[in-house]
Amino acid sequence: MQNGKTFYITTPIYYPSGKAHIGHSYTTVASDAIARYKRMQGYDVMFLTGTDEHGQKIELKAAEKGVTPKAYVDEIVAGFQQLWKLLNISNDRFIRTTDDYHEKAVQKIFRALYDRGEIYKGKYEGWYCTPCESFWTETQLKDGKCPDCGREVKWAEEEAYFFRLSKYADRLLALYEEHPDFIQPESRKNEMIQFIKSGLDDLCVSRTSFSWGIPVDFDPKHVVYVWLDALTNYITAMGYGSEDDSDYRKYWPADIHFVGKEIVRFHTVIWPAILMALDLPLPKQVYGHGWLLFGDGSKMSKSKGNVVDPVILCERYGVDAIRYFLLREIPFGADGLFTNEALINRINYDLANDLGNLLSRTTAMVGKYFGGRIPAQRESGDPDGELIAMATSLRQRCDSAIDGYQFSNALAEIWKLIARCNKYIDETMPWALGKDPEKQPRLAAVLYNLCECLRIISILLLPFMPETAPKIQQQIGADGDILTWETANQWGLLPEDAQITKGETLFPRIDVAKEIAALDEVLAQSQQQGQTEAPAQSEQPAKKDGKEGKNDNVVTLEQIAIDDFAKVELRVAEITACEPIKRAKKLLKLTLNDGEGTRTVASGIAQYYTPDQLIGRHIVLVANLKPAVLCGVESQGMILAADCKGSDEVRVIFVDDIPAGSKVR
Ligand code: ME8
Ligand code: MG
Repeated sequence: MQNGKTFYITTPIYYPSGKAHIGHSYTTVASDAIARYKRMQGYDVMFLTGTDEHGQKIELKAAEKGVTPKAYVDEIVAGFQQLWKLLNISNDRFIRTTDDYHEKAVQKIFRALYDRGEIYKGKYEGWYCTPCESFWTETQLKDGKCPDCGREVKWAEEEAYFFRLSKYADRLLALYEEHPDFIQPESRKNEMIQFIKSGLDDLCVSRTSFSWGIPVDFDPKHVVYVWLDALTNYITAMGYGSEDDSDYRKYWPADIHFVGKEIVRFHTVIWPAILMALDLPLPKQVYGHGWLLFGDGSKMSKSKGNVVDPVILCERYGVDAIRYFLLREIPFGADGLFTNEALINRINYDLANDLGNLLSRTTAMVGKYFGGRIPAQRESGDPDGELIAMATSLRQRCDSAIDGYQFSNALAEIWKLIARCNKYIDETMPWALGKDPEKQPRLAAVLYNLCECLRIISILLLPFMPETAPKIQQQIGADGDILTWETANQWGLLPEDAQITKGETLFPRIDVAKEIAALDEVLAQSQQQGQTEAPAQSEQPAKKDGKEGKNDNVVTLEQIAIDDFAKVELRVAEITACEPIKRAKKLLKLTLNDGEGTRTVASGIAQYYTPDQLIGRHIVLVANLKPAVLCGVESQGMILAADCKGSDEVRVIFVDDIPAGSKVR
């Protein structure tokens, strides 16, 4: 149902200077949850994300790799797009700043600002930080280094164009005062007020020191400053500056820009000033969320190399578990620690225990006592009223949490109802009711109430966990118009003939200690691979001291003694069966005859082999590897395969002429 209102939400457009990481996923998943929630509420939503592809840093990365900047970003941008698909991101549009329409619109905007006298030509000198693409004054430096990232800066001078930012100081302060919600959370607003009061300089908005950018059309040795290029994406993506600007007229101003706290200044000072200079409406709100931090308390970013690969996390736990964790663990405005342990605990307690058990107990009991259909004759009883009141008022609590972008609170409210349901089971003791034929109507009411709660829970959970919610709905036999936001505050809609079935376990429990050990190994491996395949992952050049070097695809490791090698038990095994693993697109589940018995191994070769290419073949097994659970499958070993030199292909080492059980040494 449409309510006639539009809702425009954006993420930052990310630098494709390295692979998409969990930090990018954080903002994008949060934006996706809002976009889905607003669509559910009937808004005509526009959800935009994209990539910020120009600038010196990218030019340098591409040169290092010996490819053109465009070729360099194309590959990484494809990775971003794949990741958003994997994470079920429902963006309506994806803008690349190398898109032709954007480049033309930016040139028009630059010229318009120049024609209006808002941009003028001058000379720039200052300390320049290349990775941050920022000029700093002497006093802004911290111990002589970049105050943002702590790296070396160099003195740079150039003729340049300047934007008259300084003249907007008062109007910006007035904006914050008249629209107290413009900058969220509140604390960031105070920072910006301080920043402006300490004095705004005009902003250098062109560069001549490199060429990977949008040329100023009337002075082409200058390219447009990457932040001016980037910020305007929010309007050019809607057609501003293009022939068809109907979406710009329809959706602008944006309802919310989601950004990390380190770029709030660009979005709440520079961006509104540019719009003021163009006489355009200002975005309604900018939310500067906190940082995901890793163990050592430093901001996790691609510039430091300590990245948790979101693809691996999704493969091991499923997409919705990762989405849930990101949105639940950390209040949106605050910084928070990302640890594997916290993630696994959330999966075990919230997802497997609380939600998973509620669903499986409820559906199993409907099956056991009523063969999958709840009888129409139902008798209400004591805690029903309280449960129903809590369930039918949940939507209102979620809505208001979402209005303030408090994902964690919205989910906490849903989980309060889940906990109440589990307690309701303990209180009403359906297993006792089931023993007494006279109590059938009471038992029917108890189970019906639980299913209705699950219906409401599934509706409100959908924006956060878009794969899990439909599974719940399917198991309780609900579909169609009883699953809309409009019906989430109504009671008694699940029809009498709903077919209720216990389905697959939503979230298998994970053995924390084992999994953390296995996960640490996987992450270490992926970081090692990351260094070889994506130079952007690590700012450090390969070491040339002989201990660890870099040679195309092959990492040469430190030398080991024969005893070290002897610790690895290699054995030939025959693949007797093979099937895909539902939750993991890259994994295949192999059943092996290792000469002594059968065992199961999960292997990341689904992209390269189909099951029928593998069944009956002999491979080399690492037989004494500690077992690890991968996406619900216990993997008891590993098979040998090669990363083929000069290509992205992975090929299994086949040894068909050697009998299963043979030792390899
Ligand atoms: O800044 N925790 O791009 P970028 C939380 N191109 N969020 C994180 C994060 C972390 N550890 N790391 C990254 C740019 N992010 C510019 C933006 S917009 C006109 C131009 C998220 O690739 C967060 O949203 O450095 C942050 O603001 C953004 O990624 C920075 O991405
Ligand atoms: Mg950054």
